[in-house]
Amino acid sequence: MDLLTGAGLAYGSAMFAFAPDPNQPKTELYADLVEAAQALVHDEPDAMANMANLAALIWQFLPKLNWAGFYRTVDGSLVLGPFQGKPACIRIAAGQGVCGAALASGTTQLVPDVHAFPGHIACDDASRSELVVPVWRDGRVIAVIDLDSPEPARFDSEDAAGIEALATAIAAAI
Ligand code: SME
Repeated sequence: MDLLTGAGLAYGSAMFAFAPDPNQPKTELYADLVEAAQALVHDEPDAMANMANLAALIWQFLPKLNWAGFYRTVDGSLVLGPFQGKPACIRIAAGQGVCGAALASGTTQLVPDVHAFPGHIACDDASRSELVVPVWRDGRVIAVIDLDSPEPARFDSEDAAGIEALATAIAAAI
């Protein structure tokens, strides 16, 4: 896929035009997402700007989402970062809900039915399944990427692997 046109967004010099095909195999979709993400954050040191663009990119690439974005680790808890979707809860303690479980354990949380997850925090009543992936840098979890879907069991192991690859690719940029 021809992912990119233009040279970059810095100082309004150009635009990115991504053309994701949601019907392609997930491995290809996530490879394209990671490639696009790397291009998007390339040479931009501002973490907040990069997370904002990455949330928009995930939203554009992945079908059947009702929330996609970041929670950042601040003093051992999670604080809401850039996202797409409805306004969400701002602070989540380690161990609380799906995001807090990802922070406390440092592992990906793949939740096919959020109603069956003890302590799940319902930011949007429409959410039925969720994927939360920790972003590691210098031996600690600096943020989590949180994806919600209105469809039960929307996410599988390929989605988890794809978002983990994304987390690794962008860890230095957020
Ligand atoms: N459901 C999450 C809270 C964040 S919202 O989904 C955006 C949780 O249980 O941690």
